[in-house]
Amino acid sequence: MEEYPYSGSYDDPLLAELYDREETYTDDVALIRKLIALIGDAGSLNTIVEPFSGTGRILVPLAQDGHHVTGIEMAPAMNARAAAKVAALGDEVQARVALKTQDVLDGDWGAGYDLVILGGNAFYELPSAEAQERCIRLAHEALAPGGHLFVDNNDYKGDWGRLAFGKEHVVLEGTGADGTYGRYALTSLRFDEDFGVLHLKRTWLTRTPAGVEQTIEYVGRKHPVSAGEVEGWLRAHGFSVVQMFGDRQGNPYTPPSERAIFWARKT
Ligand SMILES: C[S@@+](CC[C@H](N)C(=O)[O-])C[C@H]1O[C@@H](n2cnc3c(N)ncnc32)[C@H](O)[C@@H]1O
Repeated sequence: MEEYPYSGSYDDPLLAELYDREETYTDDVALIRKLIALIGDAGSLNTIVEPFSGTGRILVPLAQDGHHVTGIEMAPAMNARAAAKVAALGDEVQARVALKTQDVLDGDWGAGYDLVILGGNAFYELPSAEAQERCIRLAHEALAPGGHLFVDNNDYKGDWGRLAFGKEHVVLEGTGADGTYGRYALTSLRFDEDFGVLHLKRTWLTRTPAGVEQTIEYVGRKHPVSAGEVEGWLRAHGFSVVQMFGDRQGNPYTPPSERAIFWARKT
């Protein structure tokens, strides 16, 4: 079966449409807004880069707030949806948004930003601790002195060796505006305990209104990241942790917390 270098591909217009329909949570945006309010005078505007920006779920509301926002997204289909949302907001907002279509790991994020956002479980897109650590290093390079970094991931508790291997789990499913049905599923194949890497099968099935079915299958990989790993990389790459939250409501992190959300400052 074909290998994909990351966890899974989002590069399909229907998949992007289903993602947008399903992933409508805004509590992380509310938390980011509260944190932004702490870094400047009330109402101050910032330059922000969001790698893994997807369909603009986080980026668009921040641009509406008046910030200058750059999104970096590998999947053209996801970026196209973000671009359409921005275009619908008019020229003034559009002028504050730049959307780059590229691999985040290639660097070239730009420089001098006030804030880098690695939100929405971004590290679970990546196959290794090295790739995740590289994002922290790139964030440091992209920030102005004293700039801030927001990192939000599930806190891995070490239990993926006991996953239900071989069992298909539907991640996204539905019918798009043109009547085509899509189902994006994941099957955990094996967990490599030495490197902490899950090997998984992705299945993307589509069926047109005329009944034409297509299935794409490939193998992806992801490294589940822990709070301790992220904290270590932040300290190793020139950040001080200002606050650490255990959920998107902004409650403090404790070891049983489901999430590990860092608000760090470039020292
Ligand atoms: C789960 S979505 C999250 C999108 C957005 N941050 C949000 O919270 O709604 C993850 C996105 O990261 C993108 N992505 C994954 N690996 C990437 C990489 N190496 N470089 C750029 N984008 C990547 C995927 O294409 C996908 O659109």
